[in-house]
This record gives sequence, structure tokens and C-alpha cells, in this order.
Amino acid sequence: MRKKIVAGNWKMNKTLQEGLTFSTELKELLNNKTINCEVVVGTPFIHLSEVSKAFKGTKVHVAAQNCANKESGAYTGEISAAMVASTGANHVILGHSERRAYYNETPELLKEKVVVALANNLTPIFCVGEVLEERESGKHFEVVAAQLKDSLFELSKEDFSKLVIAYEPVWAIGTGKTASADQAQEIHAFIRETLTEKYGKEVADNTSILYGGSCNAGNAKELFSNPDVDGGLIGGASLEADKFLPIIEAFN
Ligand code: PGA
Repeated sequence: MRKKIVAGNWKMNKTLQEGLTFSTELKELLNNKTINCEVVVGTPFIHLSEVSKAFKGTKVHVAAQNCANKESGAYTGEISAAMVASTGANHVILGHSERRAYYNETPELLKEKVVVALANNLTPIFCVGEVLEERESGKHFEVVAAQLKDSLFELSKEDFSKLVIAYEPVWAIGTGKTASADQAQEIHAFIRETLTEKYGKEVADNTSILYGGSCNAGNAKELFSNPDVDGGLIGGASLEADKFLPIIEAFN
């Protein structure tokens, strides 16, 4: 059966010291607790090594929020998937709408990033989601299907099986405006159907599809109770350990 996952995305927040304080706090809060999902913490690049060390021996995984589309070489300022993996992190968030919108990441570029991430044994958490205008004009299904197809559908079945998908409607990110449980279920089921058509039922059934966009302690349980919502990608509510914990515990 597919994994339940709660993944945090700190975005460009927290100094290294603040990141380590968070890690100590979360570790203490999780100590001796029964956790029924995989927990991932997505930090800025420079925190990865120290945060990975802090969570060593626990069930908490660490994710980068991006990686380069090339293996190595003369790409000043870039961070490769191999570098990310060498820190102890084992996930990478790719295709976040902020990277698509502010850093012009194209489907083609994302396709390359997914390939290098997989080649370096990182689990990509691949984000898709429509903007408000697309939702309002009823184009969200076609937008999300195109995002999946354009960056992922050249992967083999074996490689695709290593991915996690995150559906994040752009209008819900950081706005306090969450998709309703019904809206989330509807599009998650559509994503699974799209994956079934391409890769077959077994792969689709085993793919974790996370919801992201103003998910918090107050709405996580309802969102996660949908059959096709396998957890969340959490921004703002992942920045404080005591606010992140109840989202993890929404699976208890
Ligand atoms: P949010 O962000 O929870 O602050 O809305 C989610 C995300 O962008 O991953």
C-alpha cells in the first residue's frame, strides 16, 4: 500500500541556528510517540547536512527544495542532486509553483531535474497545481494533466514508481484559503486516474499524492481522510514544531 507522508517545506525561512532549534524540538515532540506516516522536513540547502545529522536515527527524512538539472560542472551557484544526497537528505521538492513562477522553471527543465534526482537516489516530491484563473475557468484538470505529462511521462514505470506527487493549487498556497476536502479528493482521484491510464493501476495505487496549500492542524485530518489524499506538503504550518506535530498526528 502507498505511504502516508507529511512533508514540511520551510521555503526561504530560518537561519541555520533556527533550523537546528526546530529539529531538536521536533525530535523531542516525536520521541516515544507512535507515528503513522512518513515525516519529511524540507530545508534550505545550507541546512541539509546539519538537519540530517540532527534527525539521524529517527524516522524523520530530510528534503532539499530544489536541485540542478545537470550532474556537475561549470554552473556557478547551482547545487547538484549528488551534493544534496551527500548531506544525508533523501528527498527533493521539484516543480514547486514558486520555482515555476519566479524562476521560470519550465516543464522541460523539470524533466531533467527529475532524472538527475532519481539517478542520485533522491525521492522527488513533484508539485503540480493550477492558478486561480485556471480553476475558475474549469481548466484545472487539463492543467494538472499537462504538468504530469510534460515533465514525468517519459519516465519508465520503474522510475515513476519512485516519485511522490504533491497537488498544490496555487490559489491555496500561503493564502489561508484551503481547497475543500471534496475539491482535493476530486482532483487527487483525477491524478490517480491519469497515472492509471499511463502506468497502470498498480503503479497509480502505490503512488502517494500529497495535498498542499494552507494545510494546517485545523484542516489536516479532514483533508487526509479522503481516500486519494495520502498526506500533505506543508509550508507555513511546518515552521514551528508544535504546529507541525498535530499535522503529523492527523494520521493517528
Ligand atoms: P502553505 O505552503 O502551506 O504555506 O500554503 C505550501 C507549499 O507551498 O508547499
